[in-house]
Amino acid sequence: MSKPPLSGCRGASRETLCLSTSEDDFSDRVLAWFDRHGRKHLPWQQPRTPYRVWVSEIMLQQTQVGTVIDYFERFMAAFPDLASLAQAPQDRVLHLWSGLGYYARARNLHRCARQLMDEHQGVLPEDLQTLQSLPGIGRSTAGAICSLGFGRFAPILDGNVKRVLARHFAVQGWPGQSAVQRRLWEYSEVLTPEQRTADYNQAMMDLGALVCTRTQPGCEDCPLKTGCRAHALGQTEHYPMPKPRRTRPVRSTHFLVLMDSQGRVLLEQRPPVGVWGGLWSFPECAEAQQATDWCETALGCRADLAHRLQTRRHSFSHFHLEITPLVLRVKNPADRLMDAGVRVWYNLKCPDDRGLAAPVSQILREIEVGET
Ligand code: ADE
Repeated sequence: MSKPPLSGCRGASRETLCLSTSEDDFSDRVLAWFDRHGRKHLPWQQPRTPYRVWVSEIMLQQTQVGTVIDYFERFMAAFPDLASLAQAPQDRVLHLWSGLGYYARARNLHRCARQLMDEHQGVLPEDLQTLQSLPGIGRSTAGAICSLGFGRFAPILDGNVKRVLARHFAVQGWPGQSAVQRRLWEYSEVLTPEQRTADYNQAMMDLGALVCTRTQPGCEDCPLKTGCRAHALGQTEHYPMPKPRRTRPVRSTHFLVLMDSQGRVLLEQRPPVGVWGGLWSFPECAEAQQATDWCETALGCRADLAHRLQTRRHSFSHFHLEITPLVLRVKNPADRLMDAGVRVWYNLKCPDDRGLAAPVSQILREIEVGET
């Protein structure tokens, strides 16, 4: 006998999705696997509070567990609760995020904390709709907060779950396409159990991360091997189908690493939106010849090119950036021209809590080594 459609399901049913009898015990098999092999000791699971689940889920968007753990621990030490996060200056939040990438996540997390304090009595809401209306919280993250944080029924569809479902049902097409995404959500909704939803969701993410991996999946150890269409076809590597690739353009820039006579380095805060939004970086120019002119115009002083550092490539999701740092010695910069809110002379010997773009931290380390 097939199971009735589950609550929370938006129209799709086991019948319309043509689930076979081997899917009747799909969630039971997933949960049995979880009891033996699932992850139960991740830092955000002990204790598992809505606040800790929310922060971890934002960090885990586009980033693997192994990378997130240290960042999460430092973040929790600095901001143990919603109120402390809301009160913190944005720079301190970005500082603790520095190196995790996708900084819009940190800005949204911070904005969301302030909104929760102002409009929700400092409490994360439990229902999916309200969660999804908050900055940085999409449908899957809302589902994870709702299920893992509050123990309620809510399906999820993060990258790992997409891979498990796309393979199991041999779903054609790239999951970024809305029709494909809609179909994967339908599978997730129908298969997610009302009992032990948190364990099931955690299990599906773990299964995707540990067994149904992108390359060389461990099908022999998979509880969903029976009934997996991609496995039966011997085509696990074809699912999920990749994004139609457009090659990323390569852009280039020069970082002006301006050093004053005290060995301090000039940093500028980037505009709040766009690449490295709100982080501190070096002034830039397109051509090396423009460097000294930039100093005269912006700082009202002379600068001599000392040396160039090696060109390095930093990749963003939509382009590659080739960065050539130019180290310049600046003579008598006019303090009066400094706009304190946007530019600072940064003392390498006394680093502070500002958020630095990852290549900037790297270059600062290189020049510090070179100077000592
Ligand atoms: N990826 C996203 N959320 C996760 C979680 N709670 N555990 C492991 N990996 C995840």
